[in-house]
Amino acid sequence: MPKLNENYLNLKENYLFAEIAHRVNDYAAANPDKKVIRLGIGDVFLPLGAGVIQGLHDGVDAQASSETFKGYGPEQGYEFLRKAVSDYYARNGVAVDPDEIFISDGAKSDTGNITDLFGAGNTILIPDPVYPVYVDTNIMCGREITYVDGNAENHFLPMPDPSVHADIIYLCSPNNPTGAAYNAEQLKEWVDYAIANEAVILFDSAYECFITDETLPRSIYAIEGAKKCAIEFCSLSKTAGFTGTRCGYTVVPKELVFAASDGTPMSMHAMWKRRQSTKFNGVSYVVQAGAAAAFTEEGMKQCRENIAYYQENARIIASMMEKKNIRYYGGINSPYIWFECPNGMESWEFFDYLLQNAQVVGTPGAGFGKNGTYFFRLTSFGNRENTIEAMERFDKLF
Ligand code: MLT
Repeated sequence: MPKLNENYLNLKENYLFAEIAHRVNDYAAANPDKKVIRLGIGDVFLPLGAGVIQGLHDGVDAQASSETFKGYGPEQGYEFLRKAVSDYYARNGVAVDPDEIFISDGAKSDTGNITDLFGAGNTILIPDPVYPVYVDTNIMCGREITYVDGNAENHFLPMPDPSVHADIIYLCSPNNPTGAAYNAEQLKEWVDYAIANEAVILFDSAYECFITDETLPRSIYAIEGAKKCAIEFCSLSKTAGFTGTRCGYTVVPKELVFAASDGTPMSMHAMWKRRQSTKFNGVSYVVQAGAAAAFTEEGMKQCRENIAYYQENARIIASMMEKKNIRYYGGINSPYIWFECPNGMESWEFFDYLLQNAQVVGTPGAGFGKNGTYFFRLTSFGNRENTIEAMERFDKLF
């Protein structure tokens, strides 16, 4: 009989968004006459931009001829895409060498897979509330987690406590789920803390494209010293609408070297390369061709148009919160609106209430941690008409 990974017994039965999908599907099946508006999972609504579509077509055409056909590609991703990502960083004022970039099928996979590089006995700091993947993947490997509280008092931007040691620190900015974004001084504090603790920061910047305030950093590498202590995960899901197409990238700087227990220097870049080339055969050539097209001038213009559409949805949701005097976060520099459940309701109670009475789906804050118990998240990734209708229903309800 195999001995199974019993750490799985410590997980909730379902992943958060799978649990929500179950509940909503059950409700929709029992109420076929009701129009359910889904503003739960942050899944994009708009189709891919014309440039990306052309890039994908070109990729398919290349596979049709023996002169251009591509079999196994480099596990780290094609040079043309790593260079395009590096240029994208440069346009945002950050230098990242293409050789430090690893193309993947998305930030979710990489933030989970990175746990392979760590041994036992680390002190792992994870903010609460947080994207559930960080917590679940550490539970899967039986690791203990120390939570740092994000709450209304710190505007959901927890800061390091110099009296607490950490080895591994997860940060997400702009934050999923709260929409809060760290400024440069705050990130510098985290970087200094990580360096003082010889810790590594796992920085999820999947929502950087939503930053409109130009004073806010879009990458942790905008902060001095970050190359010595941080790995950054990013994704084309929200930037270019790749939630279904799948492509992301992870930056592992070559400076990221830590000592093994016998003092042997270990490069995290070399380890990640070794891990990826063993367990991953790279993202398909066709998808990488489409992704590269997103980073061209025309491709980026189309991405920005789509992002502007979602930003307007965010504004519509945020203005309803203002009208109702509901305390909320995010909506600016973020596609998410994180608000206090009305009438002191707990978040799963509010989820049911909103679904039953307004047929609007959101994400209960408790799914992101205990500090989300009385909060709720709505996404701006829906279509305009549905977003307006959802807010009209909300208006009637409270
Ligand atoms: C979310 O809704 O939190 C995200 O879309 C989930 C994800 O990116 O995996």
